[in-house]
Amino acid sequence: SAAIKVGVIGLGTVGQGVVRLLKNNADEIARRVGRPLVVTHASVRDAGKARDCDLSGITTLADAMQLAREADVDLLVETVGGISPARELILAALARGKSVVTANKALIAEDGNRVFAAARASGASVAFEAAVAGGIPVIKAVREGLAGNRVERLAGIINGTCNYILTQMQENGTAFDDALRDAQRLGYAEADPTFDIEGMDSAHKLAILASIAFGTPLDYGSVAVEGITRVTPQDIQIAQVFGYRIKLLGIAKRSGKGSEQGIELRVHPTLVPDNTLLAKVDGVLNSVVVRGDAVGEVGFYGRGAGGDATASAVVADLIDLARGLGADARHAVPALAFQPDAVRALPI
Ligand code: NDP
Ligand code: HSE
Repeated sequence: SAAIKVGVIGLGTVGQGVVRLLKNNADEIARRVGRPLVVTHASVRDAGKARDCDLSGITTLADAMQLAREADVDLLVETVGGISPARELILAALARGKSVVTANKALIAEDGNRVFAAARASGASVAFEAAVAGGIPVIKAVREGLAGNRVERLAGIINGTCNYILTQMQENGTAFDDALRDAQRLGYAEADPTFDIEGMDSAHKLAILASIAFGTPLDYGSVAVEGITRVTPQDIQIAQVFGYRIKLLGIAKRSGKGSEQGIELRVHPTLVPDNTLLAKVDGVLNSVVVRGDAVGEVGFYGRGAGGDATASAVVADLIDLARGLGADARHAVPALAFQPDAVRALPI
């Protein structure tokens, strides 16, 4: 039967991974969806740049807005990053009733409510599994798998670049700047790596995950953030002597009582006892541990950054949306359902 046509805006680390994965696993995905899922259109900033994916059969448009507004596609992938023009591209696609898959945690954390409102108004969906912890399907797991729980707390290593740098400093004595350069070369870092090393990327992800886990509004501004730029080799060595690892953690937990009740959100380097699960999560791996009142502690672990791992999450969202096209309109389910009287996040 007829292919579901996908447009991809941005063919960097993640976008190229998406094109490769959809081609490599085309038969398997077609069987799962019931129809082939094919990238027909793409847009990049520099059309002259070589790409690490097969672009045959893909029409490349110089104007990304033209792709979002006019191209004959069923679903759009936004893997450009940043707030603008990513937001305008997504809003343009939604206005046409086209559902969107994005890996853009900065946009979802900072302006997600506007994007979700636009999706609801048009009956389309925005899926963003790749925005938190790369290839680990933690958004689906928390939103759907833990939906019956009252979540008490969650904590995790949610930035692959920082975890890679800290691991290289600890295991190999690598200098901070050299480890950062390696993380950039491997495609783990943000276009502006300040977002990684100063903790903002972890804060974006924490804001998104906490809103889903606790049913609170997105509140990126309430996250207390400290990155890893002040962690020295001596800090790492001394921590090791006392049986600890230094990890950049994102932590969300209930705090306060009565009218002061809220969710405390923070990102900072943390001394983690080296006999714990989180201490053993090294390199680009991420891990999230969630405590629910019924289930107890649940842990998730896997590759938190990189093209192929992140493409795994983007393509899973495409498959979800593709399955909903036609008679079964599962994609019309709102991306997030906040409780109107949700507790506010509290700064600490
Ligand atoms: P890259 O910088 O590697 O890729 C960005 C792509 O967007 C490039 O192909 C660039 O074009 C293109 N682009 C930039 N501006 C425009 C524009 N105006 N119109 C069309 N195309 C444009 O980023 P990543 O792939 O690493 O990240 C993409 C998104 O995924 C970000 O939101 C990031 O936070 C998120 N993400 C990244 C992960 C990772 O491991 N890298 C993991 C999880 C999420 P050109 O190549 O021509 O310069
Ligand atoms: N820059 C991010 C990281 C990409 O290093 O974790 C994955 O979101």
